[in-house]
Amino acid sequence: MAWLELFNLTKTFPGVRAVDDVSLDLDRGECLALMGENGAGKSTLIKILAGAIQPDSGEIRIKGDPVSFPNPVAAQQGGIGVIYQEFNLIPDLSIRDNLFLGRDLTRRGGWLRRTEETDQALEILEKVGLSGINPETTCRRLTVAQQQLVEIARAFIADAKLIVMDEPTAALTTRETTCLFDLIDELKSHNIGIIYISHRLEEIERVADRVAVLRDGALVAEDPVEKMGRATLIEHMVGRKLESEFPERGENRSADIALRVRGLTRGTKVRDVSFELQAGEILGLTGLVGAGRTELARLIFGADRPDSGSIELHGVPVSFQSPRQAIRAGICLLTEDRKQQGLILNHPVVENFGLPNLRDFSRGPFLNLAGEARSFDHYVDKIGIRTTGRRQPAGTLSGGNQQKIVLAKWLQRNAEVLIFDEPTRGIDVGAKYEIYKLIQELAAQGKAILFISSELPETLGMCDRILVMREGRLTGEISDPETATQVDIMELAVHDPKGSE
Ligand SMILES: Nc1ncnc2c1ncn2[C@@H]1O[C@H](COP(=O)(O)OP(=O)(O)OP(=O)(O)O)[C@@H](O)[C@H]1O
Ligand SMILES: [Mg+2]
Repeated sequence: MAWLELFNLTKTFPGVRAVDDVSLDLDRGECLALMGENGAGKSTLIKILAGAIQPDSGEIRIKGDPVSFPNPVAAQQGGIGVIYQEFNLIPDLSIRDNLFLGRDLTRRGGWLRRTEETDQALEILEKVGLSGINPETTCRRLTVAQQQLVEIARAFIADAKLIVMDEPTAALTTRETTCLFDLIDELKSHNIGIIYISHRLEEIERVADRVAVLRDGALVAEDPVEKMGRATLIEHMVGRKLESEFPERGENRSADIALRVRGLTRGTKVRDVSFELQAGEILGLTGLVGAGRTELARLIFGADRPDSGSIELHGVPVSFQSPRQAIRAGICLLTEDRKQQGLILNHPVVENFGLPNLRDFSRGPFLNLAGEARSFDHYVDKIGIRTTGRRQPAGTLSGGNQQKIVLAKWLQRNAEVLIFDEPTRGIDVGAKYEIYKLIQELAAQGKAILFISSELPETLGMCDRILVMREGRLTGEISDPETATQVDIMELAVHDPKGSE
């Protein structure tokens, strides 16, 4: 008998059966990967397990005994720790307070408990690769990657027997991801079970012992990882064969320089960065977390002002005081932090899609709602946005489908220079392919694209050229991604530009 058993769990939301008669089990010390397209029901299933939502029917057993988790605290006491897809940290509290939130470890109050907690926090933070960080730091000041690690630390502290991770590496780059995998190995050796959700196939092959695939809420396959090859896995997820992960490259670069950046500098985050982006080019920008890629994008987009340096659009010097000016001049930025993209969660998806595109859909003083709906449907179809209808509130879409809405908003915008910061984060493998194709179509139309990504395979598979950043500087360029390898990029990403070579 396995430690955890799920029997015939079902959960229906208006218009959709999110989890459909799912039975699964998991032993301690084992890592089960849960896979499936955006909206397949992965998060819903683990929310049931976490006591965050109640199933319509079905049963959960632990060590053979039926249990019920009417709320998240009950699940936590049952030994289940969950790291959610959407961050759950309270931004204005310190790391330490977030770690111990809702846990009254000792009834002893005051500074004694605080010092104990601080000590324990330091120990755990070091374990998750956050050594050297002050536990008093407010979480708002952490990078996305650091927040993720604090979430993981919190599950450790709760002394979980089973840790569920819903896309834990979505915001981590190669190095942090490697650390996390080592950590998972260690947890397994301490007899802790892991349910691991991710859209990245390489990760599944690295960490998981078994893989279960959900499709439209139902369990469609379950096998040891080594038995289920990558092609079969994809086929189970998308329900069709995918010939390749990346669309065929086209050569769309023209002599026209769409964007020229010279000596761009802001503090120590961006230091003396110069490059050119041709019309029709897909230029990759990669590096470790904190390398300065997002900061660079913000400077170009007018979200921050540079200390020095210049920007030219089609040979004309520009200096933006705000993103609004940049947008007007034809630059778009899809930021990595999707929450700040301002999806209005209780508004229908179609309105969220149309919101920033009002100009495209307005005829004189009237909104062209039919045009908006048509365009929306086009993207729903193209990248497989799963909704129960145009009027579904954006907040009830699955994580990946919310991101698809944000992405569609920008894809459909008529800009000359498009900056995509981690465009496929959290997007399922089938939809990724369609997004790559859409980005390539934009390039074929002569748009210039700056493609920021931490995922090296997609950077190599998609870009005409790749720039690598480290500590605010460009450390190198890969001019022929077709023959380059991930190792080539990593070498540039860790290379010390000032060091002796
Ligand atoms: N509170 C809710 N109200 C209505 N529908 C919901 C709600 N929560 C989830 N759904 C629907 O249930 C389905 C499954 O969503 P879920 O979040 O479990 O998907 P997922 O597999 O985690 O996808 P992703 O990979 O995008 O995170 C989706 O169709 C989603 O729109
Ligand atoms: Mg999810």
